[in-house]
Amino acid sequence: MNSKSWRYTAEDLPQLSPFGSVLADRIAISRFEDGGWKSGGLIPMNDFRLHPGAHCLHYGSSCFEGLKAYRWDDDSIALFRPDRHIQRMQQSAAVLRLPIPDRDELMEMLVATVMDAMADIPPAPGTLYLRPILLGTDTNIGAAARPSESAVLYVMASPVGDYFAAGDRALRLLIQESARTTSQFGKVKTGANYASALGITLDARDKWGTDQILFCPDSDVQETGASNFVLIDDKTIITKPLCDSFLHGVTRDSVLQIGRDLGYEIQEKDFCVDDLLKWTQHGEAALSGTAAVLAGVGTMIHNEKEYTLSGGETGPNTQRLRKALVSVQRGTEANGHGWIKKLT
Ligand SMILES: Cc1ncc(COP(=O)(O)O)c(C=O)c1O
Repeated sequence: MNSKSWRYTAEDLPQLSPFGSVLADRIAISRFEDGGWKSGGLIPMNDFRLHPGAHCLHYGSSCFEGLKAYRWDDDSIALFRPDRHIQRMQQSAAVLRLPIPDRDELMEMLVATVMDAMADIPPAPGTLYLRPILLGTDTNIGAAARPSESAVLYVMASPVGDYFAAGDRALRLLIQESARTTSQFGKVKTGANYASALGITLDARDKWGTDQILFCPDSDVQETGASNFVLIDDKTIITKPLCDSFLHGVTRDSVLQIGRDLGYEIQEKDFCVDDLLKWTQHGEAALSGTAAVLAGVGTMIHNEKEYTLSGGETGPNTQRLRKALVSVQRGTEANGHGWIKKLT
C-alpha cells in the first residue's frame, strides 16, 4: 500500500473519538448450527440480522474480546498476542455454555477483518481495535435454564486513538469496597459484568469526577471496570495473583513479563486497601489493558479523602514500562516472546 491509500493520518486521530465509535463497513462472520461452525466470510455490517427472540438478548449468552492491529512505521501490519485473546474467548464461551469458537477459524476471521479494513488502520498512536463477539442465537424465549445450542461469531473493526478522553493525563480512581461482578463471572469477558459496573461508575464520575472505580470487595484490591491494576516503584511491580474473581488481562501478563525482562521484581500477591493507601505515599499505580495500554493513576479517593500519587502525574516507572510495551507492539523493539503476528 502506498501512503495515498491510507484513510487516516496522525492529524485525523481526534475524529476517531470516542474510542470505538467509528466502525469498518464489513464484518467476518461464522455461525454454529447443527453441531458445527460454518463460515459466512465477510459481509456488510448492515446485512447482519438477529432474531428478537435470540437467547443472547434475553439471557445474556454473549462474550467478546478486544485486541489491536498495529500499523508499524514501515506500514506493515501486526496483531499483538491474538492467540491469548482467542484462548480467553474460548474460556468465556465455556463458562457461558456457548459453542466454543474454533481457534484456527477465529484467527482466520481476525486476519480477514484486518486485511479488509487495512486502509482504515491509523498510524501511531492510533490502532485498529478488533472486537470478536459470540452470541447465543437459539430462538426460544423460555430457555432461561438452557444453553443456546446455536451461535453467531463475528469480528468488528474500529480505527481508534486514545481510550481515555483524558489522553495522557493521569487518572482519578474511586476506591470502592464492593465487587465489580459475581465471582463465577470475574474472568469471563461478558456484557453482564460491564452492565453491573456501569451505574456506580457513572455515579462516581458525577460525584467525584473520577475516570474509573477500583473494585476492592472486602478490601481485596482487584481491578477497575475495564482494566487490571498494578502497583509500581523503582524495583517492584505488584499485582493480584490470577484467580476467578477478575479478568486475566493479556496486557497485565505482558507488563509483568516486560517488567521481569527490565529487572523489576514481580510480586503477584493479594493486597488490601490499607496497603494501597500506604503505597500512595511513595509508589506509582497504573491501569493495564488493551485499550488503556498502561495508564498512570494520579489520584485515588477513599472515604471522601483524596490521595495523590506521583505528584498527580503518570510516574516515571509507569512511563518506562508503557514505552517498552508500546515498542514491542509497534515493532520498534523485538522481545523474543513470540507475541507478534505479522500480517503484511
Ligand atoms: C474488566 C477488565 N479487566 C481487565 C482488562 C484488561 O484485559 P486485556 O489486557 O486483555 O485487554 C479488561 C479489558 O479487556 C477488562 O475489561
